[in-house]
Amino acid sequence: MKFYQFPFPGSGFLAVCTAWFFLHPARLAAQTLIPLETGHMAMVLEVEQNKDLDIIYFGKKLKNAVEYGLIPRQYKQPEDYTRSLNAAYTPAGSRSLAEPAITVTHADGNNSLDLKYVSHHVEKISGDVSLLTVLLKDPVYDFEVSLYYKSYYRDDVVEQWTTIRHHEKGSVTLHKFASANLYLKAESFWLNQYHGDWAKEMRPEESRLTHGIKTLDTKLGTRANLFQPSVFMVSFDKPATEDEGSVMYGGLEWSGNFRIDLELDPLDNLRIMAGINNYASPYQLQPGEAFTTPAFWYTFSDQGKGDASRRLQRWARDYKILDGNGNRLTLLNNWESTYFDFNEARLAGILQDTKKLGVDLFLLDDGWFANKYPRNSDHAGLGDWQENRQKLPNGIAALVNEAQSAGVKFGIWVEPEMVNPKSELYEKHPDWVVKQPNREEYYFRNQLVLDLSNPKVQDFVFNIIDSLFIKNPGLAYIKWDCNAVIYNAYSAHLKNQSAFYIEYVRGLTKVLERVRGKYPSVPMMLCSGGGGRVDYAALQFFTEFWPSDNTDPLERIFIQWEYSYFYPAITSSNHVTDWGRQPLKFRTDVAMMGKLGFDIQVSKLNGPDLSFCQQAIKNYDSLKQIIWHGDQYRLSDPLNHAVASVIYVDETKSSAVMFNYLVNYRYDEKSRVPIRLKGLDAVKKYRITETNLYPGTNSTLEENGIYTGDFLMQIGFNPVVNANRTSVVLKIEEVR
Ligand code: GLA
Repeated sequence: MKFYQFPFPGSGFLAVCTAWFFLHPARLAAQTLIPLETGHMAMVLEVEQNKDLDIIYFGKKLKNAVEYGLIPRQYKQPEDYTRSLNAAYTPAGSRSLAEPAITVTHADGNNSLDLKYVSHHVEKISGDVSLLTVLLKDPVYDFEVSLYYKSYYRDDVVEQWTTIRHHEKGSVTLHKFASANLYLKAESFWLNQYHGDWAKEMRPEESRLTHGIKTLDTKLGTRANLFQPSVFMVSFDKPATEDEGSVMYGGLEWSGNFRIDLELDPLDNLRIMAGINNYASPYQLQPGEAFTTPAFWYTFSDQGKGDASRRLQRWARDYKILDGNGNRLTLLNNWESTYFDFNEARLAGILQDTKKLGVDLFLLDDGWFANKYPRNSDHAGLGDWQENRQKLPNGIAALVNEAQSAGVKFGIWVEPEMVNPKSELYEKHPDWVVKQPNREEYYFRNQLVLDLSNPKVQDFVFNIIDSLFIKNPGLAYIKWDCNAVIYNAYSAHLKNQSAFYIEYVRGLTKVLERVRGKYPSVPMMLCSGGGGRVDYAALQFFTEFWPSDNTDPLERIFIQWEYSYFYPAITSSNHVTDWGRQPLKFRTDVAMMGKLGFDIQVSKLNGPDLSFCQQAIKNYDSLKQIIWHGDQYRLSDPLNHAVASVIYVDETKSSAVMFNYLVNYRYDEKSRVPIRLKGLDAVKKYRITETNLYPGTNSTLEENGIYTGDFLMQIGFNPVVNANRTSVVLKIEEVR
């Protein structure tokens, strides 16, 4: 990232801007610009003469940074009476009348805030990463906000957050406290947002933003993304496509209530305020205390949605996800093959099956714990994390040993933040449970949430994980689930109930930090009844996430497609299950487009099915580095085409793998025209071979077809997908 500061009077730059100053007499004095630039994008802050800090540009970087100052004069939009619509962090109660980034009640009861530029500095964190800090202060009250912009030059990503402090005589109430405030200019703005529910994650909706405020938010507390995640895209001028158009992406790094306001203002510009949801959460900030908001990340590309997503995926692998550039374990899970109905003997058989199948690890799911109220359904036992003596008389330790002798690793499911009312934990510690003291309890999946704002509960949750590892040092994997939302939000521990939602997330973060402090590298899957908690705050502690309980492969093509705009394939846990009507090959091919796992009864597979799976796992072993660490290009989208197609290309452009699926089952639907490949080297030659063929079937493709990258990207290749070949995986290798 590069930063410039233009000192003014007398500089050549001032001369260029004379006309502009003439048109804006209030700005006659020196102009201070703070352009924040990455490889391709820029956001330019300006310190006005009255010390307001404004945003004068957001978009594609200009070749000549000096010209940023000329941008405002090119706009003849209506007058901004408040002269604050483009504030870099909009305060409330003084001049601004628009949706604020911050609202406060001072110690003396006054509701007004103004924020003036004081200073800024840039810290170079590495060759790629810089941190710009801008200090703003209220001229009347001893109240300040530091704005932080951490920029990643190569990937065009910025993380923005704030720290709020004061030295007033008593506490100040923060009513709203956004992490970021942006200002975008375009002819029109197109919001691509997501909605969903259990098994319906990541359904996209794109619409033109109209005047007023559109809010994306959640008030669910835990499993916060159940109906809506914080990730979104805004296209400039027209909806961006995969390869064309200007688009910004954003999302909040916060595993709790979020709120993103998108306000099309009277000047037709777009104001974005993103942060923790202030719903039921006025924050009492003590004198001298620093309140730091979570980061809001954003990126911008003028090359369409695909380019933005590849940059974001690379950024995530390099900077955000635990072990983002490392390896992952393939696994066999028993959730759908046994549900709660298993015992040591049955699991011993499944451990043998794990080996037979050829995956790395067996993942024991829900149902292994609790004695007084055994976990034989989702109605009881959550909270009592002792092995169920009937199912597992010799404990987890015996299973870990059994796994070791079978030659596979062992992992386990936990849902440590939750409690069933039918549990010893609930009986012993009702005060650890989130519930209103005088109201009827109300359950989500028959359970309640533990009060992670309470340090004793944090210890309890940490100890669940810690004692599993202490007792079973061979334990190799954790699936951390979180199935309930928060109803009747109330903490018996907190004096100030308004702090609850924020303290919950802080408590969760403390626990995860402790877990990672002691067990830095053990792989962990982030699950929340599916994708109810996927964000880059949580993913610093996790190696992968569970996108959805919906494993119907046809559905998964859509779900995984949308997640992939925001999260790299290495984080997407995809399991082959019995959901859906597609053949085993189709199910396996879809699961291979990320981190492959199985959740089937291996013992019930017939001969060809078993050998197909065994061979597919071997094929995956040879392709997984490309899928996990390569660049992903979306070639043919399932929403608008009969065939969905995705390609992953390795960094050197010498090998790639392309997945193709029939997604429209109407009569004679097929891949009529060639699908244009992307990301290859035009001058290289590539051999295309079909892989993952079901035993006894042959590819209908020409054997050993060799094509130039130029041909494959200009004309394309027809994978011959049709009702008889609904799923086709192609290996593309450079021929030297
Ligand atoms: C949630 C998860 C499932 C499974 C069950 C177990 O629904 O999403 O994968 O682990 O819990 O109860």
